[in-house]
Amino acid sequence: MQIHKYDTVIVGAGGAGMRAAIESTQRSRTAVLTKLYPTRSHTGAAQGGMCAALANVEEDNWEWHTFDTVKGGDYLVDQDAAEIMCKEAIDAVLDLEKMGLPFSRTPEGRIDQRRFGGHTRNHGEAAVRRSCYAADRTGHMILQTLFQNCVKHGVEFFNEFYVLDLLLNEGRTAGVVAYELATGEIHVFQAKSVVFASGGNGKFFKVTSNAHTLTGDGQAAVYRRGLPLEDMEFFQFHPTGIWRMGILLTEGARGEGGILRNKDGERFMERYAPTIKDLAPRDMVSRAIYTEIREGRGCGPDGDHVYLDLTHLPPEQLDAKLPDITEFARTYLGIEPYTDPIPIQPTAHYEMGGIPTNVEGEVLRNNTDIVPGLYAAGEVACVSVHGANRLGTNSLLDINVFGRRAGIAAAEYAHANDWTELPENPAALVEELLENLRTSDGTESIAQIRKEMQETMDANAMVYRTETTLKQAVADLAALKERYKNVSVQDKGKRYNTDLLEAVELGNLLDLAEVLAISALARNESRGGHYREDYPTRDDVNFMRHTMAYREVDADGKASIRLDYKPVVQTRYQPMERKY
Ligand code: FUM
Repeated sequence: MQIHKYDTVIVGAGGAGMRAAIESTQRSRTAVLTKLYPTRSHTGAAQGGMCAALANVEEDNWEWHTFDTVKGGDYLVDQDAAEIMCKEAIDAVLDLEKMGLPFSRTPEGRIDQRRFGGHTRNHGEAAVRRSCYAADRTGHMILQTLFQNCVKHGVEFFNEFYVLDLLLNEGRTAGVVAYELATGEIHVFQAKSVVFASGGNGKFFKVTSNAHTLTGDGQAAVYRRGLPLEDMEFFQFHPTGIWRMGILLTEGARGEGGILRNKDGERFMERYAPTIKDLAPRDMVSRAIYTEIREGRGCGPDGDHVYLDLTHLPPEQLDAKLPDITEFARTYLGIEPYTDPIPIQPTAHYEMGGIPTNVEGEVLRNNTDIVPGLYAAGEVACVSVHGANRLGTNSLLDINVFGRRAGIAAAEYAHANDWTELPENPAALVEELLENLRTSDGTESIAQIRKEMQETMDANAMVYRTETTLKQAVADLAALKERYKNVSVQDKGKRYNTDLLEAVELGNLLDLAEVLAISALARNESRGGHYREDYPTRDDVNFMRHTMAYREVDADGKASIRLDYKPVVQTRYQPMERKY
């Protein structure tokens, strides 16, 4: 076991992690631990843009953006945090421009902006052009730009280091424990401050836009240490995933004028959201697609998808603004989007919930108190600017605004405080976990349990939920967790043992899927991405509150989930009916 000592450790090298690292490296000795090479992080898969009320192409202001974010999130958004995000959005975009990001431009040379779901002018009057973009490769460009700037600032990366545990001592942050893929060695990183920026957990669903690496490792590590997870029942389904594969086709396609059609060729969103139609928020569009399918208006022999129609858009517009997704249609479906509509279905996309933080990125241990030295930002966290449903483009914004804030705060904390002593046997939990998996002669297969977990999540905890389906998911997950105890890995070696890490990742996903299902079962209302057919309306009296899920272990070592609730922060917007 090797021991390292840094002021600040950042876990994850996607957009949030690298944005934090750029700040903290300039203020404190920082290490970034990432299970991937930084430029392979999932931020690179984000396509359509990052919103900011620059008003470059039409009238806009950050207050309209804040209102849209709160309404889009079905009033579960903490409004103070949304105000900060939307106000700081403008500088966040300009910072990226100064760092060298090649944004798409207007003919006059300004950063171009396009329409995106739920972003409106003057509190819902019409769709507004607010998303700053680089064709349909905005996340890729952000990732490359941030990486180049990390290199410029001398950020120290530990690539292919899997963080498997958080170290706390008497409630203060002491560091993390990581597993080095190349050698199988365990490394303890003692740190004054730690920032989790390790991304989401969408791989517990089968049809998903998420990469294989999105296994909720940061959330699981924090949760296992008794800290809460907030609002995990709110999971977003992006309306336009490639049929059956889930690969993302950007909402920017509808921002450019693309239309959703059912088997009769009808532009069905006109019935569900008469004002902004195809650019309604994602929860509404995904439900509308499944309603069309359920009511027999789906396309294809099985009637199990609808179409994204781009055929009326000029080919030169598609080539300039949507080069990647039109190529995806050709490559994965053999469809020519100039002339034929593209089969799509909703795809599991984004976890609105996560590790609860305040607006400085400080992690909460309960409704009010922080964990000294611990920070989180990006999809792993819940600040909560997305509430019950995130607006498209607000995630690239979130990682830049709150990644920056967390990086500064973590470095300043490291300046003002000394190292907390490491707990005794700091790597004990990780060593035991890995040893048990490596030496197990169990009969269960990782791939089979993962498959069954994804099947039950897709069948029972997706866009439409009921008490019956959620109870089924809870029961299935409990049975899978029992079987997981008997899982075996084929590769018993130390070097590049991805088999072993897949087993660890599966354990993380099972824990988090259970939190999602149990939190969803307790929320007897419909709000944003959480739609209960047995409770189809929003219930502000009983449920305008955040869920806080804690893992508790009894004297016999049996773990269970305890749910608590936290008030929503309201500043200027009173909840109202969500119509578009
Ligand atoms: O549709 C998209 O380009 C995805 C953007 C997002 O999730 O923010």
